[in-house]
Amino acid sequence: MTSRPAIPRHIAIVMDGNGRWAKLRHRPRSFGHNAGRKAVREVVEGCLREGVEALTLFAFSSENWKRPEEEVGALMALFVRALDKETEELHAQGVRLRFVGDLTAFDEPLRERMQAAMAHTAGNRRLQLSVAVNYGGRWDIVQAARQAAAAVARGALRPEAIDEAMLGQRMCLAELPPLDLFIRTGGECRLSNFLLWQAAYAELHFTDTLWPDFDQACLHRAIEDYGRRERRYGRTGEQIASDKG
Ligand code: FPP
Repeated sequence: MTSRPAIPRHIAIVMDGNGRWAKLRHRPRSFGHNAGRKAVREVVEGCLREGVEALTLFAFSSENWKRPEEEVGALMALFVRALDKETEELHAQGVRLRFVGDLTAFDEPLRERMQAAMAHTAGNRRLQLSVAVNYGGRWDIVQAARQAAAAVARGALRPEAIDEAMLGQRMCLAELPPLDLFIRTGGECRLSNFLLWQAAYAELHFTDTLWPDFDQACLHRAIEDYGRRERRYGRTGEQIASDKG
């Protein structure tokens, strides 16, 4: 087990602060979300440059449906525009795009666009970009438990065989490297129901920078901060040191 890896293999980001960024400029919240899209591009470029293997972004939580109808509509329109405009560029850069979350809540045309973008980029290996939409960490745990329960009900699984590894394989992002670094912009220090299971041993990095201002330099600082952490996975610092010696 490595104790001080310099580059996280998998980064997840709660992209918070679009609304406040727009408010500071006396503009509607949708203006902030649009600016947030440019920051997504920046961070994808940054991950490609730094050699990060997987990037997972929280674009729309299962709780975000509670926002004013106008904002939800603007966000959906933004996702469609982003999909239409960015997929080809991502593909050219060797990025594999995935959408994770309960996609059944989205209308058919948007779902089809998501499926098409996933299929189109499925062969890419340079960066695994997952966009969490209508996602919640508790939902993820429930859907994994439900799959296990269904397997038990049809006699394909013994209840004693349900363990962490088995449930983990049924969780979103199971095919990716474990989550190393969890970043949240916008000054709040909470997980907000993002990747609860996957973040168990992730290093947390909170920054006051509002998401539209988060650029490659900010990403680099977060990666440097990560490089200074000692990851102990429940062991002592002495045990880690003796492994290295
Ligand atoms: C949180 O900021 C941000 C969101 C709910 C939306 C995130 C969406 C984007 C960054 C748009 C681009 C994304 C993709 C994948 C194309 P907030 O609105 O809660 O900000 P506030 O806390 O300042 O109000």
